[in-house]
Amino acid sequence: MKYKMDKIGMFWGSTTEMTSLAAELIQEALESFDHHVESFDVGSTGVDPILTYSNVIIGCPTWNVGELQDDWDMFYSEYQGLKFDGITGAFFGVGDQLGYSCNFLDAVGLLARPFVENGGTLIGQWPTDGYDFDESIALEGDKFLGLGLDYDNQETLSEERIKSWTELIQSSFK
Ligand SMILES: Cc1cc2nc3c(=O)[nH]c(=O)nc-3n(C[C@H](O)[C@H](O)[C@H](O)COP(=O)(O)O)c2cc1C
Repeated sequence: MKYKMDKIGMFWGSTTEMTSLAAELIQEALESFDHHVESFDVGSTGVDPILTYSNVIIGCPTWNVGELQDDWDMFYSEYQGLKFDGITGAFFGVGDQLGYSCNFLDAVGLLARPFVENGGTLIGQWPTDGYDFDESIALEGDKFLGLGLDYDNQETLSEERIKSWTELIQSSFK
């Protein structure tokens, strides 16, 4: 089968499986647009393989009040040193806007900002309408730097959000 664009490498970390579930749904949705997605648990691959893709999706839940999920955390200093020139990237995060209202989706900010600072082209910024939180370092203007999912409080909205977000990003990949 011939795909219409370069393949997409998706790298995610997940402790209680919500982000891995979201990654599966994102992969299914993009494959319905004829994208070829290769999906990896970053805990098994580390961050170097990110650089072998011209299109990437990065997924991370926020843990421990404003921190990265453990697998991402382990590789963070290495990740911050990568050069992302020529790579188009979309980010998604999973969080709890009620329980952690001052740190909602912080992990998206922690990963997307160095990506842009180190030459990456960011796509998939996402409006904050429909979320209720106080602070997030994933915020840039009136948008999140990537898709926000909240299975703790808004599980029923996740499927629709993934559908709209994948529609948004799919045509921006190379
Ligand atoms: C101890 C603890 C700390 C958390 N800290 C945050 C946080 O700072 N910000 C946030 O948005 N969500 C936070 N969460 C919510 C998780 O991100 C959420 O439960 C998510 O679904 C976990 O994703 P995973 O199942 O892929 O590991 C926290 C959850 C726990 C249990």
